[in-house]
Formats: sequence, C-alpha cells, structure tokens
Amino acid sequence: MSSAVSEQRVLSGMRPTGSLHLGHYHGVLKNWVKLQHEYECFLFVADWHALTTHYEDPRVIEESVWDMVIDWLAAGINPGSATLFIQSRVPEHAELHLLLSMMTPLGWLERVPTYKDQIEQLKEKDLATYGFLGYPLLQSADILMYRAGQVPVGADQVSHIELTREVARRFNYLYGREPGFEELVEQAIQKMGKKSAKLYRSLLNKYQEQGDESALETAHALVREQQNITLSDKERLHGFIEGSGKVILPEPQALLTPASKMPGLDGRKMSKSYNNTITMRDSEDDVMHKIRTMPTDPARVRLTDAGDPEKCPVWQWHLVYSDDSTRNWVQQGCKTAGIGCLECKKPLIDSVQEELKPIRIRASEYAGNPDLVKSIVAEGCEKARDAAKQTLEEVREAMGLGYF
Ligand code: TRP
Ligand code: SF4
Repeated sequence: MSSAVSEQRVLSGMRPTGSLHLGHYHGVLKNWVKLQHEYECFLFVADWHALTTHYEDPRVIEESVWDMVIDWLAAGINPGSATLFIQSRVPEHAELHLLLSMMTPLGWLERVPTYKDQIEQLKEKDLATYGFLGYPLLQSADILMYRAGQVPVGADQVSHIELTREVARRFNYLYGREPGFEELVEQAIQKMGKKSAKLYRSLLNKYQEQGDESALETAHALVREQQNITLSDKERLHGFIEGSGKVILPEPQALLTPASKMPGLDGRKMSKSYNNTITMRDSEDDVMHKIRTMPTDPARVRLTDAGDPEKCPVWQWHLVYSDDSTRNWVQQGCKTAGIGCLECKKPLIDSVQEELKPIRIRASEYAGNPDLVKSIVAEGCEKARDAAKQTLEEVREAMGLGYF
C-alpha cells in the first residue's frame, strides 16, 4: 500500500567490489539511465555493504569506488538528474540502522533467504558476523532514509525489500501512535482548506464503506500534494487513511529490474569470479581478443562441420546485439557450415566496440578529471545528507530521543 512515500523517488545502490562489466551495464545501468528521466533518483555506492563480505581484505573496495562512479557517469548517469553519493559519507545511515536494530526481531534477519544462501555460497569467507546478519537491515535503513517509493533491484534482492516493508510497518505501529492522534488528524484535515478537507473525507468514506482501493490511492495523492501542512500532519493523514498511526517510514516497492540477457563469454552468467567478462573499460584490443576466443559449439571442429547455434554462447550474444537479418544469417550459416565462427563473431565485435566507444570516451574524460568526479559526489553527499537528516530527526523524535 502506498502512503507518505515519495512515489516519485527512486533509491538504489551498488556494492563496489570490482570493475563493472557488460552484465552490469545491460542489467542495471541502462535501467538506471532510463529511470533518471522518470523519477527523482538517489544512487549510491554501498561501501559498507561491501565491507560486510570483504572486511578481511577491503582494498578492492577503495580501488573500486571511484572507478564505479566513473563507470556510472560513462554509462550515461547524469549528475544533473540523479543524486550520486557514497554510503559511508552519509553517516546518518549508520544511525538509522542502529535505531532500527533496536526493534527488529532477530528471527526476521535470520530468516532472510539470502542470509543462509550467501554463507553457504561464500564458504571461503567467515560470514558469521554481526555485520553480515544486519546486511538487509542496513539496506532497509538506506531505503527508508529517503522514503523512497521505488527500489530498482534484481530478483535476488526482493526479500530485502520485503524485510524493509515489514520493518517500516513495525516502526510505524510502535512509534506512529501519539497521544491525541484523532484530534491532531481532525486539525490537520481542517488545515488543508475546505475543498481538500471535503474531498479527503469523501474519499475516506468511499474506501471504508465500499472498499474502493482507487479512492485510497487518490486520498494519498491528495495528501501528498498539499503545500500548506507540515510533514507531520501529512504523516498523520496518510496513517489515518491506512487505519494506523502516523506513517513516519513509508513502505517502498521493489521495482524489479528485468533479468539481463547478457551472458558471459562462456555462456554462464557474466561474473568476475567466472573470469568471463568484458569490462566497461576494456580496450578495443581486449574486446576483439576476448570475443575471438569465445568458445563455440564444440561440434564444429572444422569449418566444414555444421553447428547448432543453440549450443553456442556466441548465439546468445547475437540475441542481445543483432537484428533479425544478422540472426538469420547466423542460423543459416552455422547449420550449413556456410560461415566460419570467426566470421560469425565479426558483427558482435563491431556492435560491442560501437557500444563501448562513447562509454570509453566519457570514462576517460572523467578519469582524467578526478576533481570533477569528487565534486559531483561531494555535492550528491550533501544533498543526500540534507534529506537524511530530516528523516532522522523525525525518527529520533518518534523513538523518544527528541529531548535535545
Ligand atoms: N544489496 C544490494 C546489492 O547487493 C546493494 C544495496 C545496498 C541496495 N543498499 C541498497 C540496493 C538499497 C537497493 C537499495 O545489489
Ligand atoms: Fe557459434 Fe556462430 Fe560458430 Fe555457429 S557459427 S558455432 S553460432 S560461433
């Protein structure tokens, strides 16, 4: 259910644990670039999250942070449209995480499916730490801090958004009940002015008497667009619609990122640990070499052996990069041994070079101007902190820490 949430605000983060590759580009970055035109985007480097798994050897984190920001910019993230920041430079995230930890049942964290999965998968690391158990709660703090309505994530992260929603609900339940709530709501309704007040009441009626969900949506929207009432009053009015107390931390939605079709050079998922990537900064020569040496259908030993594209990772790449006519040419040529594998790879080399050319140029511009990159991030951190401080102030107040 929507609420006081900034429907139009998107928040997402990425862990700095190595160079970004075409998997990130096709899977995440192109999506972010699109979203930055449709929403108010806060995008951040999740360096503390990286530390939960890389605490024994954190060097890769510091080596990756700035390059990652550069890769975002090179991919087309526009610092004029999106706010870019680094998690550890907005220490308010740590305070919110701490405060949320007070009211989050241990079982909720132990039951997040990624918890046991990751411990199992990353056996070489000791993840029996306090920090790693808290990973998804830190993520909840990241999200709730900005009251983001939409969180673009892959399917593997949906359980973390679900946890975030539960934490928000519990927080609002515990701390959104203030003495005299009903009277305060009544006063807030009147502050909206005659017309809006009347509309608010009638929408509420429609929802309560007829279960009209769209009336509920409209009522939230009406509250959201009020200019003359305080944030606290808005939270009361949102909460009243839901039949709860104040909605201090609104529940976000996962904005599921469509699964990337971009496989690795060997046909498995593209991943640094499989050593099957093309990074966003690979040189022209690297790209050529890597594609030329991609494995193909093992049945094609000689040029005269016919092949089957379904058994070949190169074909998967044609599905990403090639149009119908090229695909037909591949299907035909492969099955009749009419083309060689190097020939088949040629259009892919061209497409990847074409795709990476402007990215490389922008990346080298930013890489050559580290001061510019730092100032973009510094500005983003400042903007993020402003938003974060507002939320924290209310959270402190609600949790009884407002006696300063
Ligand atoms: N856990 C996310 C990942 O591994 C990164 C992340 C941290 C994140 N905080 C977030 C994503 C907040 C979305 C919102 O991909
Ligand atoms: Fe793969 Fe193309 Fe060679 Fe067929 S011709 S095996 S699709 S590389």
